[in-house]
Amino acid sequence: MVTTNTTWALALADATARLAAAGLDEPEVDAALLLGHVVSASRTMVRLFADRLLDPAQATALERLVARRLRREPLPYVLGYQEFMGLRFACDQRALVPRWDTEALAERAIAALRAACARRPEEQPCVADIGTGSGILAVTLAHEVPRARVWATDRSAPALALAAENAAALGVAARVIFAEGHLAGPLPRDVAFAGIVANLPYIPSGELSGLQPEVRDWEPTSALDGGADGLDLLRELATAAPAYLSPRGWLLLEHADDQSDAVRDLLAERGYADLEVVRDLAGRDRAVWGVWRP
Ligand SMILES: C[S@@+](CC[C@H](N)C(=O)[O-])C[C@H]1O[C@@H](n2cnc3c(N)ncnc32)[C@H](O)[C@@H]1O
Repeated sequence: MVTTNTTWALALADATARLAAAGLDEPEVDAALLLGHVVSASRTMVRLFADRLLDPAQATALERLVARRLRREPLPYVLGYQEFMGLRFACDQRALVPRWDTEALAERAIAALRAACARRPEEQPCVADIGTGSGILAVTLAHEVPRARVWATDRSAPALALAAENAAALGVAARVIFAEGHLAGPLPRDVAFAGIVANLPYIPSGELSGLQPEVRDWEPTSALDGGADGLDLLRELATAAPAYLSPRGWLLLEHADDQSDAVRDLLAERGYADLEVVRDLAGRDRAVWGVWRP
């Protein structure tokens, strides 16, 4: 129990011990981030100024946050934010916690959009993010490629509300259009999209019950469940996407690290060319890129 007149060091040790006893993977990191959040200090500062005292309000706030984490609520939900591509995104139960793995997808799409801008300086490439969740892909693309015009869809209205808040907070709301609906259905038919990115649910339904509690009990099932083999929505989007893509437009689909062969196959079967597997920083297969050549 965190009490008043406790030093930061003692509060950190107490929170770490309780989080460790609850079986969390990185109790000390979590404890330092929670304490840092309460006292507005980085993890390093928390250790450097370990002899400072918590005031009563801080002690109460820390106790509440530790209690939430002890219930296995994901750390980013407890903190209320997650960093993605160097940007801070608000994060809560309305949408999936942003994963750093997805940065591989963002980087590939940014490179393609920047190349398109360099080839045609007069153009403003249009790009779509299907299943935008908290908006990390849509907002990052708009932020990193100022000439890009971005559409983002999701079937979850609460997720779209969070994504719109993130677009506003990061200064790109004027260049991102959010639309509620099924996959690419809400996209306009009179826009030729240079590319479509999607991090859709891809976990096989039968594997959901075996996920760690942070994911299984807290993140929206609608953001996780990809059907029998996990690829139902990826297949459907790959079939639908050519109706929205410009000639030589691209589709970039995130998947689990053991699904790259299956995703390559489903794109090849539908006529996509120049297939390329995109890997994350750990070298794991993370997404497949394909170009639509009518
Ligand atoms: C795995 S989460 C990814 C969210 C975000 N793109 C990210 O990378 O953090 C998948 C998202 O797809 C949305 N989704 C699921 N089925 C959908 C559908 N049929 N049409 C549109 N969006 C859908 C979910 O609501 C969820 O926000």
